[in-house]
Amino acid sequence: MKRKPIMAGNWKMYKNRDEALAFIYQINEKLPSSELVETVVCAPAVYLRDLVKRQGDNLRVGAQNMHYLDEGAYTGEISAGMIKNIGVEYVVLGHSERRAYYNETDETVNLKTKKAIESDIVPIVCVGEELSIRENGTTDKVVGEQVVKAYKDISKEDALKTVIAYEPIWAIGTGKTATPQQANETIVAIRKVVEGLYGKDVADRIRILYGGSVKPENVVELLSTSDIDGALVGGASLKPESFLALAEAA
Ligand code: G3P
Repeated sequence: MKRKPIMAGNWKMYKNRDEALAFIYQINEKLPSSELVETVVCAPAVYLRDLVKRQGDNLRVGAQNMHYLDEGAYTGEISAGMIKNIGVEYVVLGHSERRAYYNETDETVNLKTKKAIESDIVPIVCVGEELSIRENGTTDKVVGEQVVKAYKDISKEDALKTVIAYEPIWAIGTGKTATPQQANETIVAIRKVVEGLYGKDVADRIRILYGGSVKPENVVELLSTSDIDGALVGGASLKPESFLALAEAA
């Protein structure tokens, strides 16, 4: 079953404001129709309002994190309401860098996913394994457990409002991309876990992206597999020309 593809860029902490705005102006008119692909840029919080104001019809804007509470004494955090109020439509949750450096856990990913859904923001729920897990052959078990914990107490209807991103940690920023077969096999395993949670209909309809050193040179082969529905791209999303090439390939 072919699902509507998503091409999402994760700018992490790489762009300054002028570059971010120039980027939007350079790609707005050249992007493929949003009827064909959901193209999203997930940017640092300080740029989100500017980007939403300047996004064209074929570009969506996403955040890179949010808190699971609506307000409170959480210095430096931002709430779902804050990003929703400025027109942000997506949010990356559970990225391995947040799990590694900022104590993001399966439990907080679950709470944030529920809050994003409640706030009518599309969560892109990241899961992925360390190299040691890939090497000892327990990837599907580890990543499957992350999915089960991320979706705890989330209904079938709400699960369909989410996107999953499989990002093997050993492929992020390393230039070492998972082979299309590796990526697709793990995404098939993730889809099986979703089927176990919600049934075949949801498993067939939910979009599951791959992330980890995706570039214009390897994206076509990745997207030509049976179960990869798009990509969550770091480095190659930072340049307008390569991001356009990625969106056009979707
Ligand atoms: O969220 C996407 C990111 O982790 C992948 O980064 O630079 O390997 O495409 P990169």
